[in-house]
Amino acid sequence: MKILLVHGPNLNLLGERESKHYGTATLEQINQDLSEIATGRGHTLESYQSNIEGELVNKIQEARKQSVDGILINPAAYGHTSVAIRDALIAVKIPFVEVHLSNIAAREEFRHKSLISDIAQGGIFGFGPDSYKLGLSGLMSVLQGIHKN
Ligand code: DQA
Repeated sequence: MKILLVHGPNLNLLGERESKHYGTATLEQINQDLSEIATGRGHTLESYQSNIEGELVNKIQEARKQSVDGILINPAAYGHTSVAIRDALIAVKIPFVEVHLSNIAAREEFRHKSLISDIAQGGIFGFGPDSYKLGLSGLMSVLQGIHKN
């Protein structure tokens, strides 16, 4: 199965950015770890990061044309604000899991609301870089379930 890993704005700075919230792993390390896990389970994983909302929308739209089976997304700050990313995820009808490194429910009030949680298969937040691994595990289970039908 084809899995697309999408990272939103400022996640290119992981490793040097607010380690109290986000840990010390770099985006490259996270991408590498997830790629190894996915490959080990017989899937392919492509990673994509952008700081630009429209580029993230374009990537999600392209995922349908590229027959992506599942999306793992950390929308970062756009998760709290972007109706466009929500609409793109609805439009492509690809199952997705939402992840956040930090516990967004325990931070500023504006981070408590996610515009994509209610349309996600599920979500993981608060485990640092492990949020991605846990999210990938959940997504792979969802995809295998779909595959069986
Ligand atoms: C984040 C949480 C968001 O509120 C924040 O804007 C980010 C990262 C996380 O992974 O914890 O950039 O998505």
